[in-house]
Amino acid sequence: MTHCIHKISVAPMMDYTDRHCRYFLRLFSKHLLLYTEMITTAAILHGNQEKLLSYDQSEHPLALQLGGSNPDELAECAKIAEDWGYDEVNLNVGCPSDRVQSGQFGLCLMAKPELVASCVKAMKDKTKLPITVKTRIGYDHNDSYQELLHFIQVLADSAVDAIIVHARKGWLKGLSPKENREIPPLLYETVYKLKQDFPNLSIGINGGIQDLLEAKSHLEHVDHAMIGRTAYHNPYILAEIDQSLHGCLEPIKSRQEIVQAMLPYMEAQLEQGIALKSITRHILGLFHGEPNAKIWRRMLSDPSYFKAYQHTDLIKAALNAVLDSPL
Ligand SMILES: Cc1cc2nc3c(=O)[nH]c(=O)nc-3n(C[C@H](O)[C@H](O)[C@H](O)COP(=O)(O)O)c2cc1C
Repeated sequence: MTHCIHKISVAPMMDYTDRHCRYFLRLFSKHLLLYTEMITTAAILHGNQEKLLSYDQSEHPLALQLGGSNPDELAECAKIAEDWGYDEVNLNVGCPSDRVQSGQFGLCLMAKPELVASCVKAMKDKTKLPITVKTRIGYDHNDSYQELLHFIQVLADSAVDAIIVHARKGWLKGLSPKENREIPPLLYETVYKLKQDFPNLSIGINGGIQDLLEAKSHLEHVDHAMIGRTAYHNPYILAEIDQSLHGCLEPIKSRQEIVQAMLPYMEAQLEQGIALKSITRHILGLFHGEPNAKIWRRMLSDPSYFKAYQHTDLIKAALNAVLDSPL
């Protein structure tokens, strides 16, 4: 079960956790569990699987997050995920967006625990992969602990391998997805209580985790901590995971070493026709909180710099600009 081994993950985030982002995040930790963006079953079954599902081998351990609610289609996609070598399949039962609601999946599935359990069972029957669910502590006015308990009980009976709980409820109407990540209060105690009530179920917590210290304090109560926005905007908080949680004795990588490890990847991607900015957009936060963070961000996002440099020379120049000692 991936969640018993991997204590920390970076959350699935649409438009953020694409393969370039994941390649970069992997450089911070071997043990961190990475998630794809949510991919719908329709996209996988009718779209370009190579484009949607391909990834670099270094990205393991890697979970594919699916959006869908048809058990047969989800099972088919889980099998496809297994064939592609993914390490886990996760079902999205937390997204409140209108588009996702009109597809009748995401958060609105919290109203249909039996259907979610059938989805989990169908996927488990079709693959050997761990099948996990990412959800919230409630939705709309259905936010009592009793209702959550019932939902989790039905899922536990389906032999789900882990549940990751965003510790705030979501509103299906009235709040945008962004507001649904900010306005409903974070209730960590609710997730801790779930772990007490389901001691044999692997439970992860998500929402508002700002650094590794906070993640570690959650791990005293639950099995797993999932970090979303902070991991993206300030990824260096992930740099100590292997040393601090997995007994790794190698020195922690510096920011400079991370950039240097990205260069061959960037060069290989450029050769395949990928635009440099589709990679650099994910590394803007590397120097977050450091004295020259602004220079780094500006050089890697202002189009005039992209015109002024060839290939990865821009990255080397930006690194030289932020570091005291040049390369
Ligand atoms: C830009 C963005 C895209 C997101 N896309 C997804 C998604 O595809 N699937 C999902 O389950 N959650 C998605 N989320 C929610 C995150 O996975 C996470 O639950 C949420 O941001 C709370 O965690 P955090 O406070 O650590 O960011 C997204 C969040 C953001 C900011």
